[in-house]
Amino acid sequence: MGDGTAKLALNGKDMDLPVMAGSVGPDVVDIRKLYGQSGAFTYDPGFTSTASCESKITYIDGDKGVLLHRGYPIEQLAEQSSFMEVAYLLLNGELPNKGTLDKFVYTISRHTMVHEQLAQFYRGFRRDAHPMAIMCGVIGALSAFYHDSTDITDPQQRMIASHRLIAKMPTLAAMAYKYSQGQPFVYPRNDLSYTANFLRMTFAVPAEDYVVDPVIEAAMDKIFILHADHEQNASTSTVRLAGSSGANPFACIAAGIACLWGPAHGGANEAALNMLREIGTPSRIPEYIARAKNKDDPFRLMGFGHRVYKNFDPRAKVLSKAASEVLDKLGISDPVLDTARELEQLALKDQYFIDKKLYPNVDFYSGVILSAIGFPTSMFTVLFALARTVGWVAQWNEMISDPDQKIGRPRQLYVGATQRDYVPCDKR
Ligand code: ACO
Repeated sequence: MGDGTAKLALNGKDMDLPVMAGSVGPDVVDIRKLYGQSGAFTYDPGFTSTASCESKITYIDGDKGVLLHRGYPIEQLAEQSSFMEVAYLLLNGELPNKGTLDKFVYTISRHTMVHEQLAQFYRGFRRDAHPMAIMCGVIGALSAFYHDSTDITDPQQRMIASHRLIAKMPTLAAMAYKYSQGQPFVYPRNDLSYTANFLRMTFAVPAEDYVVDPVIEAAMDKIFILHADHEQNASTSTVRLAGSSGANPFACIAAGIACLWGPAHGGANEAALNMLREIGTPSRIPEYIARAKNKDDPFRLMGFGHRVYKNFDPRAKVLSKAASEVLDKLGISDPVLDTARELEQLALKDQYFIDKKLYPNVDFYSGVILSAIGFPTSMFTVLFALARTVGWVAQWNEMISDPDQKIGRPRQLYVGATQRDYVPCDKR
């Protein structure tokens, strides 16, 4: 590399491959013509060295622990911005002024209700269904309710679908929770903030007034900001891949939710808190660290390690501070937080974690806060999906508007049987 081309010698043939530079971050070798010119594919399971697209939305420097949305550091957004402002920023590329922000908030608040028929849809699920199972189903079902925003060639319809998804996710997530509790659904209230409205729809009951605690509202809003987008992670790539075929936005976001559910991705916040509770007391931490290091034991420290961050996940730093603040302000003393702090300290000093550059990720502390707020662990990934919907729709819009966009269609290294003749059943 060096002068804008990479040289590749393959099967006795020399090739020049163009090298593309981003505004910041690693260069990218453009291999689009490689197969045509050489007949060879590249091999990269898990996409550890592959840039799947060009994007202007989010930048991560995993070695330095940097996360920027449209250029703005996540720490500044978490401390000074609001989830609605970050949503506008991710979708539109710039921070809004007061007027545009008010208009955006107004637009979102006008889409918070869901079709009344959707309530019937929930009733088809068992009461003990995991809320993520419900979310996969109902978000996919939105395309059956909102036909007038599924023409992806129309930018206006794309924006309406994006607003609908961002606005309806809190309502649908709260309904999933209410359904599991056997409580009546609570309708949205548009005089409340996005986050306060969600908390009210989740925790209010018709029998008494519910006043949203500003401490909880601020903590929840911060958690939403920290989960809003994260570049081309597994669920976002799933949304892009589903969308690349021209599928409607509701179906694409449902695909993203399904991917997010896994314990290696969004499901880790649930798994991390379950693990901290299982450890129970700081005295048992060495036993769990030993298990995490044991190659013969599948156990991993949940909330530790990240594909991209080989340093502190900057979101974990914000949440570590927020966890203490929230628990202090709410007057909660939770031994799980003590266990988390001690585990973090011991793991960071341990040679195994140092050598493999394993640091706490966003999921390590989020569960402690969500549990203090009153959410059951099964709702944690739902909250992640709610917030990440903003990133998903921003990335989906970026992809659909890209004139170079084509269907995502990876190839493979085939290692199966070569051609052979069919043998009738009675001759096998
Ligand atoms: N505990 C113990 N060992 C670990 C951990 C962990 N949490 N994470 C990685 N390792 C080890 C692996 O065993 C592997 O060791 P080896 O090289 O001896 O085989 C090495 O570190 C590299 O790990 P990989 O799994 O190859 O790294 P990858 O980038 O594929 O995985 C992942 C990243 C999935 C996040 C992993 O660190 C993990 O499973 N962590 C726990 C689950 C978790 O917290 N997920 C949330 C991610 S953040 C998010 O989605 C919001």
